[in-house]
Amino acid sequence: MDFETQVKVAVIYYSATGSVFKLAKAAATAAEKCGAEVRLRKVRELAPDEAVASNQGWAAHAEQTQHVVEAAPDDLEWADVVLFGTPTRFGLPAAQLKQFIDTNGPLWAQGLLADKVASAFTSASTSHGGHESTLLALANTFYHWGMVIVPPGYTDEIQFQSGNPYGTSHTSNNGEDPPGDVEVDAVAYQARRAVSVAQALARGRAAPGM
Ligand SMILES: Cc1cc2nc3c(=O)[nH]c(=O)nc-3n(C[C@H](O)[C@H](O)[C@H](O)COP(=O)(O)O)c2cc1C
Repeated sequence: MDFETQVKVAVIYYSATGSVFKLAKAAATAAEKCGAEVRLRKVRELAPDEAVASNQGWAAHAEQTQHVVEAAPDDLEWADVVLFGTPTRFGLPAAQLKQFIDTNGPLWAQGLLADKVASAFTSASTSHGGHESTLLALANTFYHWGMVIVPPGYTDEIQFQSGNPYGTSHTSNNGEDPPGDVEVDAVAYQARRAVSVAQALARGRAAPGM
């Protein structure tokens, strides 16, 4: 891989009980295997400590992911590809991820978020609980930022198993079922596809006459 096509990938996620974290790790690993430089970043928790402590799964996951670095605006500015992960919350992205998004007004105002590749994945409790509405809601922000949205579509065999062309999604059955092989393979494919589009863009920008 030459200098121009080594892309930088930020996987930025929120996860209360670990489902989205598993997808985020799989996306990060897949991007690394494509030769990308990767930052895996969690967004800051906003819920009060008492709320986290009152839910055993939430508290345990917070403890287990203490080592994960928190996302900062610099991670977005640095990245060529941003992969966002969030649980579905009443049909929408989690407030924690939205709050992080909202800290990036200064980057947006300078045009520093434009032309980056964006894609998103989610986890919800039920199969009709808002997978698509969550991903499409996040995409509203991608439009505002002038990003290059790269959905997985039905561009690979795995997509006919996972079944969500908007982005990888997982049904957790209220946290009972972690992401399985299909979801992990789907998010890995989604990450590889985003990297490959970013590499093509980088090659195009580096081409003579551009
Ligand atoms: C406040 C709140 C709202 C939620 N809203 C939805 C929802 O609209 N649809 C759904 O299917 N699941 C909903 N869930 C369940 C989570 O999306 C689901 O458990 C998900 O797998 C959690 O991902 P995580 O383990 O990464 O935190 C909600 C959970 C919480 C705490």
